[in-house]
Amino acid sequence: MTSSNNSCYILAIDQGTTSSRAVIYDRQMQPIASAQHELTLHYPQPGWVEQDPEQIWQSVLNCIDQAVSRAGLSIANIAAIAISNQRETTVLWEKDSGKVIANAIVWQDRRTAAFCRQLQQQGAEQTISQKTGLRADPYFSASKIGWLLDNVPDARTKAKAGKLCFGTVDSFILSRLTGGKVHATDASNASRTALYNLNSLAWDPELLQLFNIPANLLPEVKDSAGVFGTSSVDVLGAAIPIMAILGDQQAALLGQACISPGMLKSTYGTGCFAVVNTGDQIIRSNNQLLSTLAWQLNGKATYALEGSIFMAGATVQWLRDKLGIISQASETEALASQSSYQQTELLVPAFTGLGAPYWQPEAKAALFGMTRDTGKVQLATAALCAVAYQSADLLNAMRQDGIQVAQLRVDGGMTNNQWFLQALADLCQQPVQRCNTTDATVFGVGSLAAVSLGYYPDISAISGLWQADQQHKPKISGAEQTKLYQHWQTAVAAVLKQQL
Ligand code: G3P
Repeated sequence: MTSSNNSCYILAIDQGTTSSRAVIYDRQMQPIASAQHELTLHYPQPGWVEQDPEQIWQSVLNCIDQAVSRAGLSIANIAAIAISNQRETTVLWEKDSGKVIANAIVWQDRRTAAFCRQLQQQGAEQTISQKTGLRADPYFSASKIGWLLDNVPDARTKAKAGKLCFGTVDSFILSRLTGGKVHATDASNASRTALYNLNSLAWDPELLQLFNIPANLLPEVKDSAGVFGTSSVDVLGAAIPIMAILGDQQAALLGQACISPGMLKSTYGTGCFAVVNTGDQIIRSNNQLLSTLAWQLNGKATYALEGSIFMAGATVQWLRDKLGIISQASETEALASQSSYQQTELLVPAFTGLGAPYWQPEAKAALFGMTRDTGKVQLATAALCAVAYQSADLLNAMRQDGIQVAQLRVDGGMTNNQWFLQALADLCQQPVQRCNTTDATVFGVGSLAAVSLGYYPDISAISGLWQADQQHKPKISGAEQTKLYQHWQTAVAAVLKQQL
C-alpha cells in the first residue's frame, strides 16, 4: 500500500444492503485500499425487512478506519468523502439527539403493500407516476415513512412538532458524519422516495399530503456533487468535506461511464438494477419501468429509466443461509456447470414480491419442475438462471420502450461468476461487457468527488477511466432462447396467479 503525506485521496463509501464498504482512491482514481463489513438483516414478520441504523453507522465508521489504516494514511490525508448507498431504505431520527427512533425499514420490506393497494384503488397511482416516475409500491420510502409515523409511539406528534428527521441512508450517514449539523440528501436519492417531483425538482406538497408526511421531516435536496458538509472532528478526527452523494445504482451508472443517453448498465448486488441514461428527457415507460433521476449537477438533472428486480445476489444468499447447500456464493459456478438451461427445475425468486416489470408485492417464490433427482446442482442452476431471466424481462421492457440496447455493461458481486455471465448473454440474447471493476458503484461516486475536487473538468473524464475486462456473446440460438424464455414466462404467470 502506498504511503503519502499529501492530502489528495478520496474516501468513497458504498453503504449497501448486505454490507458496507469503503475504498480509498488516489489522485488518478486508482484504488489503494479497501475494507468491508457485513450487516445483519432482520425479518421480524413475513415480508418485513429491517436493519439497525446503529449497526449501519458503526460498520461505516469501521470501514473508514480500516481502509485509511490499510492505505498507510491518516484521515487528514483524505481530500473528500463520497457516499453511495442502498436507496429507499428509511430511517427516522431525533433532530436534537440524533437518536434513531426505530429500526430502518429496508427497501425490500413489503409491510405497506395493503396501503399501496389502497392508493391504487383510489386512483392515486397515476399522480405518483406522473410526478415521481415511480409507482404506488412498498419499495419506495414514502409509505415506509408513513408506517413509522403511525406505528412508533409518539412519532407523529414529534414529527408535527419538528422534532424528527427522515433520511435515506446517505442522509443518515451525512448527519452522523457532520455531528448532526447537516440534514440533506442528493437529488438521486430524493427521487426514490415517491415524494420528489421529477419535473419541478422539489418535494411535492400534494404527495406529502397523499402520504400524510409533514414537510419539516424532509432533508434539503442538493446537487449530487458539491460540498454537503464537513465531517465533525469529534467523529472522524478531522474536518473533511463530503463532496459527492449518489444512490448506489446511479453511482454504478456513472462508474460504468454511462454518461450519454442510451447507455445502459446492470448491477448484480443484493438485487439487480438495469438503468439506462435518458439525458435531459424524462422517458415514460409503457412497460412498467421506472423513470428516475440519475444525477443533478449544477442544478441540471440527468434522468434515467430503470428496471428493478429485488432478488439477485440475495437468491444465492438464500441457497447459502437458508438452505445451507453452499457455504460460499462462488460455489454456484461449479455447481451450475454440471447442469444446463434445459433442466426442468425453474425458480421464480419472488421472496420479497416481484419488482419490474410485474410489480406484485405480495407474490411468493416458487420452485417448479422438481424430480427425484433434484439437488443442489439444479437449485444453484435455477437460482442463477432466474437472475438472467429477470434481466431478460427488463431488457425486453426497455426494447419495447424504444431503447436500442446495443451494449450491456455489467458489474456487482455476481459478475465474478463466469457461468452466470454466459447465462446472461445467452438468456438475454445480448452481448455482455463486464467492466474492469466489479465495484462500479463506489468507483462512480468516488469519481464524482474527484470532479467536485477539480481533479477532472467534468464527468466526461470517467469515460477515459472505464475499461471492459470481459466480453460474453450469446452461444445459444435465438430460437432456443425463445423456447426457454417462454418456459420462464409460464412459471412467472403461475406465480402471479397462485392463491395459496
Ligand atoms: O434500490 C435498492 C438498491 O439501491 C439496493 O442496492 O446494492 O444493496 O443491491 P444493493
